[in-house]
Amino acid sequence: MPEYSQRIPVAGDDCGMIIEKIKRQQSDNSALAETLPPEAYNSDAFFSHEMEKIFRGDWVFVGHVSQIPALGDYFTLDIVNEPLVVVRNAEGVSVMSAVCLHRWAPVVSGQGNCKAFVCPFHNWTYDITGNLIGTPYMNQAADFDRKQCRLPVIRSEIVHGMIFITFSEQVESIAQRLKPLNALLDKYQVAELDTAYTLDYDCPFNWKMAVETFMECYHHSAVHRTTLEDSFPGRLSYIGEDGPGWTLCHQPLRKNGELSEVLTEGLIPLTGFSEEDMRQIHLMLIYPGCLIGLNPDRLSISTLLPINKHMTVWHRLVLVSKASSAQPSFAQTAADMKASSLSIIDEDLMINSAQQRGSASQLAGPGRLGHLETTVWHLANYIRTRI
Ligand code: FES
Ligand SMILES: [Fe+2]
Repeated sequence: MPEYSQRIPVAGDDCGMIIEKIKRQQSDNSALAETLPPEAYNSDAFFSHEMEKIFRGDWVFVGHVSQIPALGDYFTLDIVNEPLVVVRNAEGVSVMSAVCLHRWAPVVSGQGNCKAFVCPFHNWTYDITGNLIGTPYMNQAADFDRKQCRLPVIRSEIVHGMIFITFSEQVESIAQRLKPLNALLDKYQVAELDTAYTLDYDCPFNWKMAVETFMECYHHSAVHRTTLEDSFPGRLSYIGEDGPGWTLCHQPLRKNGELSEVLTEGLIPLTGFSEEDMRQIHLMLIYPGCLIGLNPDRLSISTLLPINKHMTVWHRLVLVSKASSAQPSFAQTAADMKASSLSIIDEDLMINSAQQRGSASQLAGPGRLGHLETTVWHLANYIRTRI
């Protein structure tokens, strides 16, 4: 199969036509729901429009405070071609552009702890609040005052320990939008958790396919029939409440299932849960691409980083209770969790890659959606309001 990047562009890649179709197409009745048009997953022009309106215009999850507990701790990631650094400094948690003010090399990459960022190109040096404090051999540059120079700060908010950023000055506060989720996020003590591990992988398909598949369990009986389906049959899943910024899918354990099918060996479950809480997993989408799996003993929070119409980086963070991470055997538990998640991930990667290939067909059109995938319709509705 040729690489997607080498494939023939969609005939008539017309962003306006795709927007028009999306706005015309969706019914307000979930029983009449259908997918977005397949062109929305195969268009360079529509992808650029989404990046501007959605990924630059709305809030994007970048990480959790437990990744940077100490002064000088930092991590980096690229969002819509913006290299960013998230750092713990005297001001708290700051998110800044990592692009050097000299000739644009990112001043820092990866993650770690430092007292200053030293650009790897010509050693210009920034303190951890972004002030330019060193510019070797620049003394002959006229009218250049490094004291006036600072890395641009990106608007950010921390909600339940989760760090969100936006490039928009206009968009409403994310904390405000997520208020209806406060009780659930408090119950899972999201602000108090520790990072167990992070995992990044390439998804050779459009970002929306990744979101949609995470948020429905309808595919369990086919894609995960030898893995997830036994314990978490797709037919038992149900889609509950949603709001303007988020939607939820609930995934109960099979009838007569054992708690060991939900829990991970070596982890200590969070406290204060009812029997019902212990026997289910919640899936949450905070639009556009923050995907959260809430289990009684761990959380996964992922952020999807679209690269192009057919390529997305999946950045996953797994969080556990402090009691779990304090266990002497925790490093091994985290390594085992990471390894065991890979088989499920592979199953999804295979089917979404195939789906991407099918969606480029000129014979493909919008498909009907059932009640087990109302979240797919929720995402379509969110997109309709943002474009
Ligand atoms: S690009 Fe950073 S010092 Fe030159
Ligand atoms: Fe899946």
